[in-house]
Amino acid sequence: MDIIYNADLSTMNTFRMKVKAACLVHYYSIEELEEISRMEDLPRPFFHIGGGSNLLFTGDFKGTVLHSRIRFIQQFPSMDGMEVRVGAGVPWDEFCDWCAKRDLWGPENLSLIPGETGAAAVQNIGAYGREIGDIVSNVECYDMVGHRKVAFTHDECAYAYRESFFKNEGKGRYVVTAVTMILRSEYSPVIDYGNLKDRLVAKYGQFVVNENALTPEKVRRGIIETRNDKLPAVEQTGSAGSFFRNPYVPVEKYEEIVAMGYEKVPHFDNPDGSIKIPAAWLIDQCGWKGHVEGNAGVWGKQPLVLVNATGNAEPQEIKELEDRIVASVQEKFGITLVPEVEHV
Ligand code: EPU
Repeated sequence: MDIIYNADLSTMNTFRMKVKAACLVHYYSIEELEEISRMEDLPRPFFHIGGGSNLLFTGDFKGTVLHSRIRFIQQFPSMDGMEVRVGAGVPWDEFCDWCAKRDLWGPENLSLIPGETGAAAVQNIGAYGREIGDIVSNVECYDMVGHRKVAFTHDECAYAYRESFFKNEGKGRYVVTAVTMILRSEYSPVIDYGNLKDRLVAKYGQFVVNENALTPEKVRRGIIETRNDKLPAVEQTGSAGSFFRNPYVPVEKYEEIVAMGYEKVPHFDNPDGSIKIPAAWLIDQCGWKGHVEGNAGVWGKQPLVLVNATGNAEPQEIKELEDRIVASVQEKFGITLVPEVEHV
């Protein structure tokens, strides 16, 4: 393992906050993680990160940041395709690429999402009509309290929109070490979200959908283009992707917004009877799109994304912008936006 005291975390969070941790440990195996869990001299608390792509460090971290470098992809042929067991430290998009190259369906819609596989399974990453929870069959963890290996079935992971057991009851105790997913070789694209199908047709021709000629690689390319059009490239502009969750509101709230004169408010019906209204739309209506305040800003092509506009933003500047956006959406629509990004 690599133990670094007084560690610079600026390259370990995609917001590029210039913060430090009292200690940072990269570990390479479950055995090393076990050793770490018993090392009394490491500063507490422990905080585990993946690619640091869904975090806002609000200042220096007083404890030890743990980071997995457990990297492997193992495959087991199954009835419908392939079962793959992936080490928590494998960069998520590397795994998506691995699947597409082997013509295996499953994670293609989640292409280019920054971060690592373990964190992806904790956050239940989702995009374009797919969530990782849809394909996860088993999650292996190390129990930092009970000092033992433990595995969770798909149902035990309690996946929901941007939620899982690991973000709730299991938080701080179970560290994901490997994720097993079910991939399919049978034709199974998921392309009904937004204008994804139109984009694929424009790119490859109508025949790709009429004649079932899509491949995981083609969908992956379409998704990468869509994301590149809308979202800041993390190498160029610091951000943590969507900063807020899309709110679920009661039907009455939706009707109230329509009655305010917004007949065309975008909305999606949820199975539980509530209505999802895109946070991007709410923020857009409050005039925030492209707004920059000091070093912090709101991305011009997707107002759900807050950015480190100059590269020099202090955590406090992002936090102040967040608070002002929440207050303005609250005032105009009576909806309280909740951050999706974890504040540390
Ligand atoms: N919209 C506007 N103005 C804009 C942009 C969007 O009004 O400038 C409205 C439009 O009505 C649009 C709607 O917002 O239809 C939704 O926008 P979009 O489909 O781009 O996605 P989203 O709901 O804003 C979610 C995820 C993204 C994911 C996309 C695509 C959350 C919090 N975010 O965003 O995830 O890529 O769908 O599936 O659920 C992330 O989590 O970091 C992330 C980028």
